[in-house]
Amino acid sequence: MRSILFVFFTAITVTGKAIHAGVDEMYSDYLFGNEKPLDNEWITKHAIIGVPVPVENKTIAAGEDLILHCEIGGIPTPAVIWARNGEYLFSGKGNFINWEEKNLNQGREPTETGIMAVELTIPCAQPSDSGVYSCLANNLHHRIESTSHVVVEGPPKECPPKAPAAPKIVAWTESRAENQGLTATLVCISDVPAHWTWSFEGLEIVEQKGRYEIKEHGNLMIHNLVFSDLGTYYCTARNEFGNSTAETYLHVTRSHS
Ligand SMILES: *[C@@H]1O[C@H](CO)[C@@H](O)[C@H](O)[C@H]1NC(C)=O
Ligand SMILES: *[C@@H]1O[C@H](CO)[C@@H](O)[C@H](O)[C@H]1NC(C)=O
Repeated sequence: MRSILFVFFTAITVTGKAIHAGVDEMYSDYLFGNEKPLDNEWITKHAIIGVPVPVENKTIAAGEDLILHCEIGGIPTPAVIWARNGEYLFSGKGNFINWEEKNLNQGREPTETGIMAVELTIPCAQPSDSGVYSCLANNLHHRIESTSHVVVEGPPKECPPKAPAAPKIVAWTESRAENQGLTATLVCISDVPAHWTWSFEGLEIVEQKGRYEIKEHGNLMIHNLVFSDLGTYYCTARNEFGNSTAETYLHVTRSHS
């Protein structure tokens, strides 16, 4: 348990900038929940947030795809969303505080340690897409952001007509640790509705009451964690035009008491 958490602590080197409340309070309830943290004493004492993979500055030519990637982790695992010039971007959805898991694990010493990855894609970017893009995270104890200065060099370019495409995974759990016996959610959110499948050790996961639950937006909830659940999980989102896959690592840990 200690050594695994240590790996997370060292991975979560704080390179982001602390966010002050008021970035855009108007949306904060919707984005991050307005309820008081249900987190227990252990989580409250160890709460941390950091940016293992900051979003990079980009200069691209008009007509190219703008792709921004960011990873933010912590205890508890944060909710992450994109903003451009201080305004939230709802197109990329992002992911929010997982109240369902918190409720299920309440009173049972969860670890809730994890790193979230988010990816923002703007196909055929134009000079008007230039700006300051931020990856914002909140775990109800701390907030942090990582910022990218994007320059799309003109002149504007005509874009090919938008063709139907395979879903893109825009937010996923990069890695997660949770204690045995508890519930862990592995996030896998795509830009358009999709059909999701999850696999572990080469086998497709089938829903099973009390063990595996695939939520309507693609997330996998694993209940009653056992040590043999530890390993790499793959999430695939597909539609009639193709599929995309994300990879996530789950550690199963021992309770800290
Ligand atoms: C990103 O760009 C901004 C503005 O040009 C600059 O201040 C900052 O140092 C750059 N960051 C990195 C990591 O290069
Ligand atoms: C995803 O697409 C590839 C082809 O690009 C196909 O070989 C593979 O079977 C698909 N996977 C799923 C789970 O649909």
